[in-house]
Amino acid sequence: MADNQILLGGSGNQQVLLDTSMANRHGLITGATGTGKTVTLQLLAESFSRLGVPVFTADVKGDLSGLAGAGQAHPKIDQRLQFIALEGHGFEPSPTAFWDVFGTQGHPVRTTVSEMGPILLSNLLELNETQAGVMQVAFSVADDDGLLLLDLKDLRAMLNWVADNARELERDYGRVARASVSAILRRLLVLEQAGGERLFGEPAIRMEHLMQTDFSGRGVISILDATTLYHSPRVYASFLLWLLSELMEELPERGDADRPCLVFFFDEAHLLFDSAPKALLQRITQVVRLIRSKGVAVFFITQYPNDVPDEIIGQLGNRIQHALRAYTPRDRKALKAAAETFRPNPAFDATEAIANLGVGEALISTLDAKGIPTVVERTLMAPPRSQFGPIDDARRQELIARSPLNGTYAETVDRESAYEMLHKREHELAQRQQQAAEQTAPGKTGVQRRLSRRQSVGEALAKSIARSIGSSIGRQIIRGILGSISGRR
Ligand SMILES: Nc1ncnc2c1ncn2[C@@H]1O[C@H](COP(=O)(O)OP(=O)(O)OP(=O)(O)O)[C@@H](O)[C@H]1O
Ligand SMILES: [Mg+2]
Repeated sequence: MADNQILLGGSGNQQVLLDTSMANRHGLITGATGTGKTVTLQLLAESFSRLGVPVFTADVKGDLSGLAGAGQAHPKIDQRLQFIALEGHGFEPSPTAFWDVFGTQGHPVRTTVSEMGPILLSNLLELNETQAGVMQVAFSVADDDGLLLLDLKDLRAMLNWVADNARELERDYGRVARASVSAILRRLLVLEQAGGERLFGEPAIRMEHLMQTDFSGRGVISILDATTLYHSPRVYASFLLWLLSELMEELPERGDADRPCLVFFFDEAHLLFDSAPKALLQRITQVVRLIRSKGVAVFFITQYPNDVPDEIIGQLGNRIQHALRAYTPRDRKALKAAAETFRPNPAFDATEAIANLGVGEALISTLDAKGIPTVVERTLMAPPRSQFGPIDDARRQELIARSPLNGTYAETVDRESAYEMLHKREHELAQRQQQAAEQTAPGKTGVQRRLSRRQSVGEALAKSIARSIGSSIGRQIIRGILGSISGRR
């Protein structure tokens, strides 16, 4: 086996391999529950890690923490090893880093509102089109004014400010209805109650911390605990999508290489596609296509291949299909569709095979060195070297405490941002309004007084916007495909 190959398993007469130079043509792992998807993910993750490739994966059930423990010998494992003719198999843990939005199962992971951008945030908050438009305005004003949107407090202040000054902003940014702002604020409240405020703030996660190798040159496997996050499916999916787009925006272009620079596993991927409007889907498709040239390999994991839209399926070159059941007509349809995506093997019928695969067995087709899909093989998957099922909590805490990343993200930092600056601005405005009122000649009529007051408010606003430009960010913000900040470095 060459050092740019990963052993996936055996098909009886041959070993089934994944060519790592084709890993960035992405992949799909599918199958009914309990058929072996997570264990396959585990096998791939630790194999990439051994080749020095860092891995990121969300852990929806908590069982992927097993990557940090060594597996155990078992007669059934020995049978597998013999069947696959796998030599030199030993049980060992992989280097891991644990992350957790809630900060208990791993290092806290945060992003800033500004970095996430209006598109993903609107998706996360499940806003309708009008509300998403208002969100765009709030971001544009903040970006143009150099106001930092770090946490939800900032966003709230910004939205209120936009509503309060809707009249002055209308000419440049379009109409903003107070009702839309109120609706967004209500959605923010729901997000906060679900613990979402922990997701936003500083220090935000730095992509290089997801791309580390350990002292022995192995890729570190970053495991995002999603056991709680997953209860808010939109937040879960939007956050992972943000991570993907962030990687795409930040990583440099990279020519063909022997192996990817990062492998990203997107578990429960159907959550991403279930409710995504068409426009968002197009952008996701674009991100998936473009991230390839940055050397990132993305594997989607879900039950049925038809959970994934066609445009994206077409970009997933490496396929691992575990068993599907065929109880209902819908099942049978999905099963047939799954079988038809493979390059047929004359030795067996793919539809029938998928229905009859055992646990830890799969139909596999990968891309060969020329990028051509291999004939589908019925494969007994190799056992991972790490442990099945989660590690215990004490061990996890020990690993977190020992991690070099421990401390980097522990404390939130609340620096001056939109919330504070808008407060200041409002304070200044109020002062100026008062001055203007005092200066108004006593002989003026009520109408005249009101008019001049309004003018002075408008002027003051224009000036205060001009003053704050560049004061906190310093230059124009450019937003990428998914509305996250792009091209910073
Ligand atoms: N390659 C393998 N080698 C040995 N045993 C395996 C293998 N794959 C799966 N198994 C066995 O099957 C069990 C279930 O597999 P797994 O947890 O991967 O299923 P799953 O498809 O992820 O299910 P779910 O959809 O419920 O998460 C494992 O705990 C393990 O005992
Ligand atoms: Mg699983």
